[in-house]
Amino acid sequence: MIAVTGASGHLGRLVVASLLRTVAPSNIVAAARSPEKVGDLASQGICIRQADYSRPDTLGPALVGVYKLLLISGSEVGRRVEQHKAVIAAARQAGVRLLLYTSVLHADRSPLALGEEHRQTEAAIRSSGVPFVILRNSWYTENYAGAVAQAVKLGVHYGCAGAGRVSAASRADYAEAAAALLTAKDDQSGRFYELAGDEAFTLAEFAAEVARQSGKPVRYQDLPELEYRTLLVKAVLPEPIAAMLANADVGISKGALFDDSRQLHALIGRSTTSISSTISAALAP
Ligand SMILES: NC(=O)c1ccc[n+]([C@@H]2O[C@H](COP(=O)([O-])OP(=O)(O)OC[C@H]3O[C@@H](n4cnc5c(N)ncnc54)[C@H](OP(=O)(O)O)[C@@H]3O)[C@@H](O)[C@H]2O)c1
Repeated sequence: MIAVTGASGHLGRLVVASLLRTVAPSNIVAAARSPEKVGDLASQGICIRQADYSRPDTLGPALVGVYKLLLISGSEVGRRVEQHKAVIAAARQAGVRLLLYTSVLHADRSPLALGEEHRQTEAAIRSSGVPFVILRNSWYTENYAGAVAQAVKLGVHYGCAGAGRVSAASRADYAEAAAALLTAKDDQSGRFYELAGDEAFTLAEFAAEVARQSGKPVRYQDLPELEYRTLLVKAVLPEPIAAMLANADVGISKGALFDDSRQLHALIGRSTTSISSTISAALAP
């Protein structure tokens, strides 16, 4: 069986949908912290199991009979190393033959604050002895979709990424790549994939494209990190999230989310989702 953790999340659901194209539903395990959130998948014949990264007692039973496992990184920043280690230990115990993990682009040298938890998780996977594949995902184009309406309204898009370029792709692109690797016939173990969009854009180019498509003036305003962070808090984001987003922008200014190796394109056999199509979808009535 092939299991996907975090199956209730945006990415997890898309991976399960991609798997369904080639894998019988009865061979797919949708593992979720709250199984009721994926109840709709049960009606398609998919096996639903509880897997809470913070409750090791749920992890062994979730992995019974699992041959390949996709561990989708959790969303509780600061608690993830311990949580991921629990899943890795359970995978080793259950005899999982291939563990895939969603990391961050260039995790080994990423200046992003969130890179540290991914580095530690990758190290734990490497030393576990379980054969593995690391999917180092860049940013989601969806991260910018939510900013489109606001940018049109204000006539400005704020950030602190300078002239850094982001090679973003959609969650569906990353999900398709994960499904391709979960179903690959050749031996993938030990591989690291740097997964990123075909095109890279600066935030000034993002603002210019929003302006072009909306027909409204929109410019990019680059701010010092602290000022941008304060602005995000004023816009009602919790302080840790604001700090993480501002830190990510600083990372972008240093090239942390840029990659032009087109490994994602090669895995999915098509162009990745462009920021331009993401903007047009966000502007659609
Ligand atoms: N590349 C990017 O731009 C980017 C952006 C944001 C996040 N990420 C990372 O990529 C992951 C997947 O992205 P996404 O869009 O699918 O995020 P998402 O929609 O927030 O989904 C996160 C998933 O992780 C699950 N989860 C969190 N804590 C858990 C725990 N203790 N035990 C079991 N499951 C747990 C959530 O379960 P519940 O439904 O129960 O909450 C949910 O299924 C995120 O979790 C994060 O690590 C990447």
